[in-house]
Amino acid sequence: MCGIVGYTGPKEAYPVIIKGLKRLEYRGYDSTGVALQDGALKVYKKKGKVAELEDAIVGKDLHGHTGIGHTRWATHGEPSDANAHPHQSSSGKLAMIHNGIIENYVQLKQELINKGYQFKSETDTEVLLNFIEEIKKNNHCSLEEAVRVALKRVTGAYVILLLDADEPETIIAARKGSPLVIGIGKGEHFLGSDASPMLEYTKEVVYVNDYELAIVKPDELILKNLGNEKITPYVQKLDIELAAIEKGGYEHFMLKEIFEQPHTIYDCLRGRLDTAGGTIIMSGIQQYADQVMKANRIVMIACGTSWHAGLVAEYIFEELCRINVEVEYASEFRYRNPVINPGDVIIAISQSGETADTLVAIENAKAQGAIILGVVNVVGSSIARVSHGGAYTHAGPEIGVASTKAFTAQLAVLTMIALKIAHDKGTIDRDRYMHLLNELSEVPNKVETVLKSKDKIKKLAEKYKDARDFLYLGRGYNFPVALEGALKLKEISYIHAEGYPAAEMKHGPIALVDEHLPVVVVATKDAYHQKVVSNIQEIKARKGKVIAVISEGDTDTAAICDDVLIVPEADEIVAPMLSVVPLQLLAYYIGVAKGFDVDKPRNLAKSVTVE
Ligand code: G6P
Repeated sequence: MCGIVGYTGPKEAYPVIIKGLKRLEYRGYDSTGVALQDGALKVYKKKGKVAELEDAIVGKDLHGHTGIGHTRWATHGEPSDANAHPHQSSSGKLAMIHNGIIENYVQLKQELINKGYQFKSETDTEVLLNFIEEIKKNNHCSLEEAVRVALKRVTGAYVILLLDADEPETIIAARKGSPLVIGIGKGEHFLGSDASPMLEYTKEVVYVNDYELAIVKPDELILKNLGNEKITPYVQKLDIELAAIEKGGYEHFMLKEIFEQPHTIYDCLRGRLDTAGGTIIMSGIQQYADQVMKANRIVMIACGTSWHAGLVAEYIFEELCRINVEVEYASEFRYRNPVINPGDVIIAISQSGETADTLVAIENAKAQGAIILGVVNVVGSSIARVSHGGAYTHAGPEIGVASTKAFTAQLAVLTMIALKIAHDKGTIDRDRYMHLLNELSEVPNKVETVLKSKDKIKKLAEKYKDARDFLYLGRGYNFPVALEGALKLKEISYIHAEGYPAAEMKHGPIALVDEHLPVVVVATKDAYHQKVVSNIQEIKARKGKVIAVISEGDTDTAAICDDVLIVPEADEIVAPMLSVVPLQLLAYYIGVAKGFDVDKPRNLAKSVTVE
């Protein structure tokens, strides 16, 4: 969380930084700030989104060829001008931005207070900055050296970018546990939480690793470890196009990303799924296929929407591969001293590849001997790098904070892995296997069909937007879809929504049902269909309003519901990739109808790099 940008080179830094911050706003938008080097340090910062800072500083002197910028997701201290980054040190000579949490900041702060320091903000960042300044002053050393010494005392996670008024063209950067990318241009360097701020200037990037420190000047990039030894930067070529991170005519990124799904699922299957030859090729899994086949247990570790993908995968793996699967919230798994046995396989699922809890959970499991496979969207991200093997979801940059296309791509990848393992293990017969390969290959076209009902869903959104609560129900493969539908709605419309297994409703949520409660029931044709229809009857008997996701042609179910969202028929294994799409659209249009900024819902962040 928090987006950070830096630039040093011949260009005016401010426009590069502001544009970069807008691209990183998905990481947080509680406040915005920039620091520019121009003879002296100039710092401008303000509570609110990037556009609010821009408006507030019209007419100010914004010159400078070296600068840093920050968009904040608050951890320590409420969103306010004072708590906004960059922070300036007591002398005013250093400026710093930070993404992460300094866990021992209280202790460091006390030490500094004892030495007479005063603080303008409530942030851990200002403490670390003054701690660095204190070391620099006492040791009469360079900023680089002071940062190195300070970081040895720090516990927690960070990416920091610092400017020193005495070294006007240099940015000092360091990382542990939060992402940092450096873009290499001609006589210029760009820094960012991800590559999006630099995409239009360069495709050559270096992903900085934990415990590395970068000294960045216009025509020099030096990487060192905390022991002051030089490291040769590993330069990689980006293969993302600028268009992938722009809205391309859509009103919101979320809508664009929902509509990209036929392509993203297709891209995910392309080159892996061969329906004619009856093969699935997953090169990042191949080496570990044996271990997965022999695994006593697979543990899926994830957070948020990715956790829901793990739940769907649990049903699929158990059904097709006959392997015991557990699905864990990363934040719980990492702290509860879990039992890891030899032969356990961990599958980490993450869009960003940077979620702090997921990252630490797999690092712990890896240290205990588990095989880690990553199902990750962002190429080169931390989770991808820590994993032994895995498969990228290839959904392209996902910018809307509410995850959509990453979810369906995760399902596509996890289904392919399960099918491959089931086939190699012999737990699926040839006919079913070939049938499922075909079913998978048809998903992109079927999603295209679902998207055609957008206008109908928009009207439904108008009808239900004022409801206070929603209940989402589903069974089997569609139970996690109900959870995901409810999550989407609460994320972007701030309406309270609960997802529940349809049959379990009788044990509690049915008490909520009355004529005011919309109940979204995922009731597509599958093995549970009749049971779900009975659950719909139970809701109708209590005057609840039922909006059902049904399979094409299911007039019987349509007849007992208030409203229906229709999806093409599909095998239950692939059905979640279809049934979730109308729920994404329903949440989107309700959020828009209520006038909320659906791409940047309050309090949320896309990439949660704090625990
Ligand atoms: C945040 C995002 C969610 C996402 C979750 C896990 O909460 O807002 O959309 O599902 O983190 O993120 P990951 O990148 O690990 O999938």
